[in-house]
Amino acid sequence: MSKRTRVLRVDPVAPDADAIALAGRTIRAGGLVAFPTETVYGLGANALDEAAIAKIFAAKGRPASDPLIVHIARLEQLSQVAHAIPSEAFALCRRFWPGPLTLVLQKAQGIPANLTASLNTVAVRMPDHEVALALLRSADLPIAAPSANQFSRPSPTSAQHVIDDLADRVDVVLDGGNTPIGLESTIVSLIEDPPCVLRPGGISLETLREALPNLRYEPSYLAEDVMIAPAPGTMLRHYSPRARVILYTGDDDAEVYAAMRAEINSHERVGILACDADALEFAELDVAIERLGADADEAARRLFAALRSLDQQGVDCILARAPEKRGLGLALWDRLLRAAVGSLIKVQAAPSD
Ligand code: TXA
Ligand code: MG
Repeated sequence: MSKRTRVLRVDPVAPDADAIALAGRTIRAGGLVAFPTETVYGLGANALDEAAIAKIFAAKGRPASDPLIVHIARLEQLSQVAHAIPSEAFALCRRFWPGPLTLVLQKAQGIPANLTASLNTVAVRMPDHEVALALLRSADLPIAAPSANQFSRPSPTSAQHVIDDLADRVDVVLDGGNTPIGLESTIVSLIEDPPCVLRPGGISLETLREALPNLRYEPSYLAEDVMIAPAPGTMLRHYSPRARVILYTGDDDAEVYAAMRAEINSHERVGILACDADALEFAELDVAIERLGADADEAARRLFAALRSLDQQGVDCILARAPEKRGLGLALWDRLLRAAVGSLIKVQAAPSD
């Protein structure tokens, strides 16, 4: 690691004021600060400073066509970044902020063009993490922050993941431990009528529909054989580990296990992402198993670290079962399918005679 990057350990609930002040000054001076949010680590810069934003794209190797999310700490900051805000936006903010909900709105004047990839809309959220909020208050600016990973690598859920990917390209890393949700925010566009989900994430569709009953979610890739989607950030290839990922669907456990075992034999070194119950099935085999826990919440917390760990173990193929598309399971499904770049195998139960 280069000497240039300062890694500062902070308590996730009561962060040290000196560390936050240093990070806040770094943002104000046009530097890059990686910080934890409740979803994943973000790579932050002053959202009103075009040159600082350009550093984010350069550090991540991110294409200029992929716009960033702006983070704010107070509702009054919304009018600094967005314009012509509909009343339903305020209703959502009051109910779900701070929290893992990103809203796409008309952008305000004065927002640098590179932040929004020249779109006339802007994505904004208020994170529910004391380190992120303290940093935002200290900098007293809206902060643009994509996930703090190398472009197309799994998002970082720990400071070590940030350091592994970005090492000397950030000025300060605030290490507040593992992020509590582990998957990114849900993105809702209020530009569309009716509103639509652009990315499932930390807040479930079921919960959002309590407030927005007409909320749509129609990603073209969920047609399961479509490889590329057109809107920014909805392209299928994303969240990729280095190994090939194959995702299995099917209700019959025995048939799914059999299909996975058959695949294991045709690779050098296989990794398996498995819930606790499925992990036992593969325990005897010469494979690297990453346990995702007992439910979707636990799997969300562990998924990105598990993908990174399997890459480090040098597997050439990763097998996983598709989760149920309910609650956080929908966001898990989305990330796994993107990691699998569309490699989805439907296992049909064998006819019983
Ligand atoms: O949980 C999160 O949202 C994390 C933390 C750090 O806040 N951030 C995050 O940022 O996941 P990023 O850049 O990795 O993903 C942002 C997504 C991208 O897919 C981008 O295309 C989309 O938001 N986005 C940003 N602005 C947009 C806009 N104006 N219209 C449509 N999509 C937009
Ligand atoms: Mg990202």
